[in-house]
Amino acid sequence: MLFDPYDAHVPSAFLVKLADAGWERREAAALRRAVFCHEQGVFAGDDRDAIDAADGLAHTIVALSCVAGQPDQVVGTVRIHEWPDAPRTWTGSRLAVHAAFRRHGHLGSALIRAAVGTANARGCDRFMAQVQAQNVELFQKLNWRLLDRIEVHGRPHGVMQAGLAHYPPIADPLTGFVVTAARRARRTEAA
Ligand SMILES: CC(C)(COP(=O)(O)OP(=O)(O)OC[C@H]1O[C@@H](n2cnc3c(N)ncnc32)[C@H](O)[C@@H]1OP(=O)(O)O)[C@@H](O)C(=O)NCCC(=O)NCCS
Repeated sequence: MLFDPYDAHVPSAFLVKLADAGWERREAAALRRAVFCHEQGVFAGDDRDAIDAADGLAHTIVALSCVAGQPDQVVGTVRIHEWPDAPRTWTGSRLAVHAAFRRHGHLGSALIRAAVGTANARGCDRFMAQVQAQNVELFQKLNWRLLDRIEVHGRPHGVMQAGLAHYPPIADPLTGFVVTAARRARRTEAA
């Protein structure tokens, strides 16, 4: 579904939380496919991988648009997991915001905050991500350090590390937190 950002019915409140309901997980998976397979063409057909398949390894965080105060639709997602061979080191991946909600309510930033804060509360000492080159600047603004530049899936990426001190632990990620977007004024066209 696409939204006109100037429409009065566009949601302006979002709940960012650890996914638990089946519909949250299903819509998060569909959003990942829409962004990484159809929009970006990084994967053909399905972006699921061994991390998703490993039982209990990955945790999915979602941003839910709210209508009349009730969660309505998954409009953003990110995946986190602890490295099996390096305890206390965590990774975030598959960060995606629905195209109609980008640069709308700082949802990407909120998902990153939830991802690192959730890991921090679970004993994370180091939080890493392979960030697509066009997003390195966004992560730097959010107190991540660029450690290296590499190719992943044939595309330029930055190896980046979160400044953990900037991400307070989120002890209850299932409750999550609310983000609000200031509604943009309708553009007035010159006569
Ligand atoms: C990357 C992505 C998650 C960002 O989500 P978003 O909700 O638009 O990001 P935010 O609104 O939190 O951005 C925060 C700030 O950074 C800016 N910003 C957003 N994307 C940026 C980018 N790629 N480079 C530089 N600045 C960026 C925003 O304008 C905003 O600026 P402001 O604080 O001055 O208002 C989203 O664009 C997306 O899903 N892209 C497609 C998938 C993708 O690239 N995933 C990441 C793989 S590493």
